[in-house]
Amino acid sequence: MAQLPVKKKRQPPVSLPADPECCVRFPGVVLCLVEKKMGLSRKAFLATLAQRKGFCVEEASSERVTHVVSEGNSGGEVVEWLKRKSSPCMEAVGHGVALLDLSWFTESMSAGRPVEIEPRHRLQVAAHAKELEGQCQVSAYACQRRTPLEHNHQMLTEALEILAEEAHFWGSEGRSLAFSRAASVLKSLPWTVRKIQDLKSLPCIGEHSRRVIQEILEDGVSSEVEKIRQSERYQTMKLFTKIFGVGVKTASRWHQEGLRTLADLQAHHTKLSKEQQAGLLHYEDLSTPVTFSEAEAIGQLVRDVVEQCLPGASVTLTGGFRRGKQSGHDVDLLLTHPVDGQEIGLLGKVIAQMDRQGFLLYHSIHRNTFQSFEDEAQEIRDSTTSMDHFERCFSIFCLGCFPGGIPGSASEARRPNNTEQVSGTTGSWKAVRVDLVVTPCSQFPFALLGWTGSQNFERDLRRFSKHEKKMTLNSHALYDKGKRTFLTAASEEEIFNHLDLEYIPPEERNA
Ligand code: UTP
Ligand code: MN
Repeated sequence: MAQLPVKKKRQPPVSLPADPECCVRFPGVVLCLVEKKMGLSRKAFLATLAQRKGFCVEEASSERVTHVVSEGNSGGEVVEWLKRKSSPCMEAVGHGVALLDLSWFTESMSAGRPVEIEPRHRLQVAAHAKELEGQCQVSAYACQRRTPLEHNHQMLTEALEILAEEAHFWGSEGRSLAFSRAASVLKSLPWTVRKIQDLKSLPCIGEHSRRVIQEILEDGVSSEVEKIRQSERYQTMKLFTKIFGVGVKTASRWHQEGLRTLADLQAHHTKLSKEQQAGLLHYEDLSTPVTFSEAEAIGQLVRDVVEQCLPGASVTLTGGFRRGKQSGHDVDLLLTHPVDGQEIGLLGKVIAQMDRQGFLLYHSIHRNTFQSFEDEAQEIRDSTTSMDHFERCFSIFCLGCFPGGIPGSASEARRPNNTEQVSGTTGSWKAVRVDLVVTPCSQFPFALLGWTGSQNFERDLRRFSKHEKKMTLNSHALYDKGKRTFLTAASEEEIFNHLDLEYIPPEERNA
């Protein structure tokens, strides 16, 4: 009788037993089995075997792994595999985490204990320590680093950014930049700095930053940073520079004059520009972060008005929100039209209509000062500033909230009475800073790249273009000084391409 073929039983998905801790005999040894080449079913079998013998087995995502065991892989392959899994073991390969061949595992199972690691057990770690170093090389240019919003060094970057801010408040831009760069490098690391030696191969971390980092790693806090945080000048400068239209110079002068609070400004009848008056009037709202949904609501509101004024024109949300931030200090919007030249006159119409509808608490239009690419080339040749020449409107929107909480337009009736001091919301509306920028379509990718930020990312894009490529980049154009020609681009990707840079999406530009 012909035998029926036996249907192969499907392997259940691999999952390690729920509580391997119960019989752990070697707490200092945590195994991670690499399924690459080994296969999932063999991995499951070996894991169960090891656990029965009292070994702890965890996945590559665990920070506790000490022994990475694989079968038939080279050291390079295992490193690649760990990298793909974003395994925290990566940083400790060679010191703390061993990459081992299955021979160590089988010998240990036979011995019923972890046998001593001999050179023959090790995958070629030395050979690829170099490779690893190469892979982990961090660029000194933020535009060559991927910097997500979330990172592992919140405490360190916060401290360094306070130092950067304090230096900025004293007008020491060089020092400020140094601290800001050090923070930016830490933000890009996919691993965690735990000891001062970890900084060894990192660029842009000066002596002072290093000292502060060491203090925080050892004591959990930096006395220098805490002193600044508590200082009266720092607190006053923070308060004043948060007023819309007030820069470091003005704030510093006010502090020198003995002014300390917003009430002091009024009591002393301090001379304020129109912009600063509006800033003071709406201080509480404007120093409350704008949420992503508020930014989107404003974007939609502007989109509707723009569509009425110039059908086919578009409105794009840029700045921090395009980088994935959930809150920001303002809303940055780029307006353009697919036909170059059609955008001329658009901003005036849009602002007039929004003002009529009661959306604007303050606005100030700056006309387009862009002359021609030739003039621009003259001007941007050696410039690394972020100033651009687009037609632009600095404004404060009145964003109303309906009882349902859905942001919408504010009606005339709910507009604040500008003659009286308003400090904060009444709950029915909120003042929000909005920057509207108009760009001709041909310059749009440059404007989009320039306005998406972050500031560190932008600064280094320009620095990289100048020093590494002999090109000049700004929010209007890219000029190749060697070829004496402008390079056109229809997208951000093309600009990265012109600069021989790997494309970095907005969410990874949070340098
Ligand atoms: P922002 O100052 O709005 O920064 O400028 P942000 O990243 O959106 O931060 P929050 O969330 O609002 O606090 C956005 C980008 O626009 C550029 C800046 O370089 C920054 O990268 N920018 C700003 C200009 O190019 N020109 C300007 O006049 C202002
Ligand atoms: Mn912004």
